[in-house]
Amino acid sequence: MSEDHPLLRSYGRLKSRPIKPRQAALVETLLPSLRPPAEPFDPRALKPDAAETWLEIGFGGGEHMAAQAARRPDVLILGAEPFQNGVASALRHVDEQALGNVRIHDGDARELMAQLPHGCLARGFILFPDPWPKGRHKKRRFIQPETVAELARLIAPGGTLRFASDWADYVNWSLLRIAASPAFRWTAERADDWRRPPADHITTRYEEKRLGDCAPVFLDFVRT
Ligand SMILES: C[S@@+](CC[C@H](N)C(=O)[O-])C[C@H]1O[C@@H](n2cnc3c(N)ncnc32)[C@H](O)[C@@H]1O
Repeated sequence: MSEDHPLLRSYGRLKSRPIKPRQAALVETLLPSLRPPAEPFDPRALKPDAAETWLEIGFGGGEHMAAQAARRPDVLILGAEPFQNGVASALRHVDEQALGNVRIHDGDARELMAQLPHGCLARGFILFPDPWPKGRHKKRRFIQPETVAELARLIAPGGTLRFASDWADYVNWSLLRIAASPAFRWTAERADDWRRPPADHITTRYEEKRLGDCAPVFLDFVRT
């Protein structure tokens, strides 16, 4: 993050309750080996046998990221999350399931994205991002023209981007901004395509909480 152009904070708290001792130990022992480089790098160097690289932005407790990684051991999954309790929880999943195909940036996804080369991702996930519903806070939403442009830079043609939210205004906001980019095409053909969870979706912790003002909506885009 450049000090000249600090990123507007898109996340809420960095820490909540004390981290359990076992998870705190994993932060010390496991996290350093999972952190991607803090300089430009090619994700293929992290796992040369990976068929694809995926990115999950704001993985929360990491349940979705870990379950996708377990399903697809041939894929390298990069996850970014600044919330320390979430990172600690994700480390527990990685450890318990002995996942060798997850790397964790314990910070802002935009910092990680800036280090990645063009077209290196096959999939991106932004699931139930912080909604920032108040008008004056909307500029903090992760989906902005700049982040959409960065996702377009990173996702290879034919790759996909999934956005999900249960806040109606954020769904419309994101649809307008992502579909406005010539780099992305919304794949929905009928209402069930956005009203029903996609076949490969794994329910997330925030999704279960039903804190939003509408039923969960899933927007799948293809990189044109
Ligand atoms: C409402 S939670 C949802 C977490 C998870 N995706 C789920 O569905 O359970 C949104 C998460 O996005 C994270 N977040 C917000 N801005 C972020 C950013 N710039 N980079 C990475 N994560 C971010 C927050 O810390 C928070 O944990």
